[in-house]
Amino acid sequence: MSKEMKTPYYLFSAEEFKKRISFIKNGLKGVNLTFSVKANPFLLTVLPDRELISHVEVCSPGELMICKSLGVDGSMIIYSGVMKENKDIREAMDYGAGILTAESRKHYELICDEAEKAGVRPRVILRLTGGNQFGMSEEDILDILSVRKEHNTDITGIHFYSGTAKTKVSRIEKDLKRLRDLLEEAKSREGFVPDLVEYGPGLSAEYYTPPFDEADEGLFNEILPLLTSFGKEYPLGIEMGRFMAAPSGKYFTSVMDIKENDGVKYVIVDGGVHQLKYYGQNMAMKIPPLRVIRDGNVLNTKDSAAEGYTVCGSLCTVADVLVRDVSLPALRIGDVLEFDRCGAYSVSEGALSFLSRDLPEIWMEDKETKCLRKRLNSWTLNLASEDKE
Ligand SMILES: Cc1ncc(COP(=O)(O)O)c(C=O)c1O
Repeated sequence: MSKEMKTPYYLFSAEEFKKRISFIKNGLKGVNLTFSVKANPFLLTVLPDRELISHVEVCSPGELMICKSLGVDGSMIIYSGVMKENKDIREAMDYGAGILTAESRKHYELICDEAEKAGVRPRVILRLTGGNQFGMSEEDILDILSVRKEHNTDITGIHFYSGTAKTKVSRIEKDLKRLRDLLEEAKSREGFVPDLVEYGPGLSAEYYTPPFDEADEGLFNEILPLLTSFGKEYPLGIEMGRFMAAPSGKYFTSVMDIKENDGVKYVIVDGGVHQLKYYGQNMAMKIPPLRVIRDGNVLNTKDSAAEGYTVCGSLCTVADVLVRDVSLPALRIGDVLEFDRCGAYSVSEGALSFLSRDLPEIWMEDKETKCLRKRLNSWTLNLASEDKE
């Protein structure tokens, strides 16, 4: 950490991101990869070239604005999202989004209307539901396929994502069976042969038990044969957020206070759970990878003077506990805690306006280390102002 970096801040690593994507691509040769922007929009600034990443999955008008601002090529964009309005679809089409997803009959109608108005013929993939509010039923998909030739769109494939942080091969097997059943029915009933089957396996990333890369790679290698054989039958695209981004982020937060209440040693830091998210971190009982930095040097966490601390953030809620009863060297005010493996969702999923605390700085470690976002206040978001539109 350099002197310019002020906690709390994130430090993302271009190298780790590329390393993870190369690992996936190496296993899944010939399969198109998609990065889901929602996991960490800042990684768009270091997106590897198109040989490695074919698409980015963009899920809202805001994410589209980010892509536009960064000059992400429109043809790379898969414009998805459960709630789409006419104007969103128009904006995505105007930007030249390569593919749009339809998650309902209504979405499909909107896409057809907008395509007609704009005089374009967009590529569309129909999203199959995983048994929740996202996507649509097999019947709805087959009905849309039956009238596809009447419209100004190219329905080129199917989209499927059924949930995140999967650790069981059986869940991937179940997903792929559902997809196969639909694709067989679509072929026999409607003569539909897809150009793309865009599948998000929702693969988990290991946060608590080292060695982390080995654990992730082991899980990936378990599902690899399933994806490979599916990829031989259908033109497969794999979209991921967590598994691609998790290894590439660290979060730094400073110790601001230390006290003992009713026999518990509390450490108060300048960050909090609005900025740090580890999937499965219920009641902060699990210990993510964590190091203590004092005056720029890493302290030995296995130090004999280790103490059990409960590390809490700066929010007004008893839920703001980052880790409970963690063994750390005797801490001092001003020490910095470095949390690892938080490249996915920490920066994008938090309750960022709660308590009107500032948003952290964002740094990217690439050929050089750059500040991508300065500290940003959030109190303006919570300020009532009659002048505002
Ligand atoms: C449609 C879709 N694709 C991909 C993803 C990325 O999921 P994960 O981070 O589990 O890989 C999500 C996450 O919500 C999603 O909704």
